[in-house]
Amino acid sequence: MTDKANIVVIGTGGTIAGQGKAASNTSAYLCSVLGIDDILATIPHASLPANLRAEQLLQTGSENFGNAHLLAIGQRVSTLLMEDDVDGIVIAHGTDTIEETAYFLHLTLKSAKPVVLVGAMRPPSAMSSDAALNLYDAIAVAAHPGSVGMGTLVVINDEIHTARDVVKSSSFKIEAFSSPYGPLGYVIEGRPRYYRHPARAHTLATPWTVERINSLPQVDIIYAYGALEPALVDALAARAQGLIFAGTGNGNVAAHLIEPLREAARRGVHVVRASRTGSGIVLRNGAQPDDTYGWLAVDDQVPSKARILLMLALTQARDWPSLQAAFERY
Ligand code: SIN
Repeated sequence: MTDKANIVVIGTGGTIAGQGKAASNTSAYLCSVLGIDDILATIPHASLPANLRAEQLLQTGSENFGNAHLLAIGQRVSTLLMEDDVDGIVIAHGTDTIEETAYFLHLTLKSAKPVVLVGAMRPPSAMSSDAALNLYDAIAVAAHPGSVGMGTLVVINDEIHTARDVVKSSSFKIEAFSSPYGPLGYVIEGRPRYYRHPARAHTLATPWTVERINSLPQVDIIYAYGALEPALVDALAARAQGLIFAGTGNGNVAAHLIEPLREAARRGVHVVRASRTGSGIVLRNGAQPDDTYGWLAVDDQVPSKARILLMLALTQARDWPSLQAAFERY
């Protein structure tokens, strides 16, 4: 027996499981080819503070992940976290939507044990691949006592990010991920160093439990531009329970789209005013009179993650004060 932490490493596909024809293929390669055992074979095990158990849950690019994938990952992770001999989880995941899965887990898991998502921008077959080091660092973070109670984390490019804040902000660079207020910490020589805690409520302090959610409501995102036709808003409003309107600048709404969005709200669709800029705060009753129009304001969350939060909030509440409070609390 050892005093190492017991970490389960789950494979789901992505570039971290990808393979190119040649080492020079850093951006053109097949995703989701290698199994989790193959990926784990590329890292040095002896120096890790962890006993590893591998599990292949999915094998697909994260661009394919719908609500059913989120629920499947959440339910499996939740079950594993209940096992006494599991100290933490690492999920190898495609980078495209890693922030959405991470935020979903951050808001729904009921455990203080570390859950760490990790991806790579270059497949293991490429020159200067980041896959092995990112995975090694993620396991070190999951095994570290300082990660307990931090919520779901994303480890990539030497950085430890909170799931709430992290976004993919480059399509190809190794330093593809950023958090608007900076990472929580760094990993150097396999040793995590923390400098901050997540300020917003997560995991044990949220009302959502993944075991009690069988399906998620339809929430869609509208990306704003001046030539956007009202018919598109009407079509989405006819099928969705919530709409995230990724407006220009500070959540602005073109004059010809105000009435379609007001009509959607009158018909009971929960309209959230967000921003397509990728960062910053959308202030309630700032650029638009949300109280008058029956709309919600996103605070500082990006549209893709606002969608996750609204879906969860709608599983328990329909009144706007509760829904608005969710955007200010989580
Ligand atoms: C994916 O998200 O599955 C593909 C891209 C990547 O992992 O970087």
